[in-house]
Amino acid sequence: MTYEMILVEQRGAVTLITLNRPKALNALNSQVLAELSDAFAAFDADPAQHCAVLTGSGEKAFAAGADIKEMADKPAADFFLEDFFSGWQTGVVATRKPWIAAVAGFALGGGCELAMMADFIIAADTAKFGQPEIKLGVAPGMGGSQRLTRAVGKAKAMEMCLTGRMMGAEEAERSGLVSRIVPAADLLEEALKTAAEIAAMPPMAAMVNKEMVNTAFETGLAQGLLTERRMFQILTATQDKMEGMAAFIEKRPGVWQGR
Ligand code: HXC
Repeated sequence: MTYEMILVEQRGAVTLITLNRPKALNALNSQVLAELSDAFAAFDADPAQHCAVLTGSGEKAFAAGADIKEMADKPAADFFLEDFFSGWQTGVVATRKPWIAAVAGFALGGGCELAMMADFIIAADTAKFGQPEIKLGVAPGMGGSQRLTRAVGKAKAMEMCLTGRMMGAEEAERSGLVSRIVPAADLLEEALKTAAEIAAMPPMAAMVNKEMVNTAFETGLAQGLLTERRMFQILTATQDKMEGMAAFIEKRPGVWQGR
């Protein structure tokens, strides 16, 4: 697939995906979704790639939301019949390898929701998160009311969804929405450095760790603890577990087989 709305580069074992519609503040239309789905599937399928970073082009926005111009005249029945927005689940959230959202500037509506689909968010000090859909007469449709509430709790999520107010980087870090804040000028370098660190881990263990933390969001504690124990037990059957523990005892770095 030829990409027109995103850029994809490989930096060693890290795939860097950049939303590239700066004039529209990287608004997310159907073509962006199709291209992102293709890029994430290729990343997941490539045995040499182990972590990805998703970021926005331009300093102003990660993404200012779903493309309002695409949605403005669309009949309601089409939204339903196309199961509009379901592609984000199958094309982006379903990615099994870890990926990071590196957010500078606006992450609004679908932009905030896309960032929250990442395994974690690293924010520039310029980042601004919000769910302003209510001002358009609608509500979040790509997970905003659910993931934001799980990330920051009911009070802040409810206030943000009902007023459309934005949350700056400091508040986002304090509330648990982002893992950390870095100066805007260092955002990409820091995100790529963190991704390279993850990419150097035993790959199956990275995928399982991701799945286990996500399980905490999706199940109750008893089911989550059981899943965690079983996944741990399964990982003990890997060559990388034998290597990782032998390498520790022999005081040398591990060399991973990815199985
Ligand atoms: C389409 C968008 C856009 C969007 C910005 N643009 N956001 N186009 N969809 N979500 C376009 C503008 O139309 C404009 O194009 C260009 O990007 C620059 O934007 P400006 O508004 O001129 O910039 P500025 O004045 O600096 O304001 C920045 C901003 C504002 C505060 C981020 O653009 C804004 O409020 N955008 C919309 C944010 C939003 O409501 N997001 C939620 C979308 S709904 P032109 O051609 O005029 O230069 C959503 C989920 C919906 O995400 C789910 C329900 C079904």
